[in-house]
Amino acid sequence: MKPAILEVHNVTKAFGGLIAVKDVSLTQYQGEILGLIGPNGAGKTTLFNVINGVYKPTSGEVIFEGQKISGLPPYEVVRRGLARTHQIVKPLNEMTVLENVTVGACFGPQNLPLEAAQEAAAEVIEFTGLGKYADVLAGKLNIALKKRLEVARALAAKPRLLLLDEVLAGLNPSEVAKMLDVIRAIRDQGISILMIEHIMQAIMSLSDRIVVLNFGEKLAEGSPDEVANDPQVIEAYLGDPEMAKRILEEEEA
Ligand SMILES: Nc1ncnc2c1ncn2[C@@H]1O[C@H](COP(=O)(O)OP(=O)(O)OP(=O)(O)O)[C@@H](O)[C@H]1O
Ligand SMILES: [Mg+2]
Repeated sequence: MKPAILEVHNVTKAFGGLIAVKDVSLTQYQGEILGLIGPNGAGKTTLFNVINGVYKPTSGEVIFEGQKISGLPPYEVVRRGLARTHQIVKPLNEMTVLENVTVGACFGPQNLPLEAAQEAAAEVIEFTGLGKYADVLAGKLNIALKKRLEVARALAAKPRLLLLDEVLAGLNPSEVAKMLDVIRAIRDQGISILMIEHIMQAIMSLSDRIVVLNFGEKLAEGSPDEVANDPQVIEAYLGDPEMAKRILEEEEA
């Protein structure tokens, strides 16, 4: 088996009395696309925030490439090769696409001088299909392009592990298809991907394995098939199993 790139050991994150993530452990192997699913409020984004250093875990630890990263600030985590996108995209609206991605490149491990950061950014912009928007102000982009910009900004930091938080949300089917191509191309570069997604059909087709959170706890883990057919998952994730079956059938149609 390939070595682990990410290990989450018994992570708990409490906000006062609310336990958003409860004793969650998971392992991601190098080169894998690992899907993270679960109902609204299950703790998915909070777990990302613990992994990339926005929050210190209340207990437990996070290991990246064999080294403990929990407790480090986000800029140090990204320097070590772990970048993430945000569920609520917040580009620097008054800056161009190129400038936004250049900022991402500046936070990478290499400490690039400005000119080299711009070159790296231009490459990532081409790779993510944003080439013709390079000089457009980020505030003028539609949601699909903003999401792609968010991916480009994270990618510009040259991560070995990329965390994607709902990059398909709010996209129409053709925009989803384009984003899926981008995600596959990232994986083909050897970058491991941990992704949160609500669009079942997309996450099922992309992921090598899936982890399910429910009320902050890990409910299930396995291949997309195993998870999709787990009655506990169907019930937790989609409520009424009969409804869930119909929804899944409709998505597949
Ligand atoms: N900074 C915070 N302070 C207090 N409570 C928080 C904070 N961040 C998240 N929570 C709470 O933690 C729980 C988990 O939230 P989280 O955003 O991680 O869920 P999620 O699985 O990402 O949901 P969604 O699918 O809707 O994005 C929720 O009850 C949320 O209200
Ligand atoms: Mg979330």
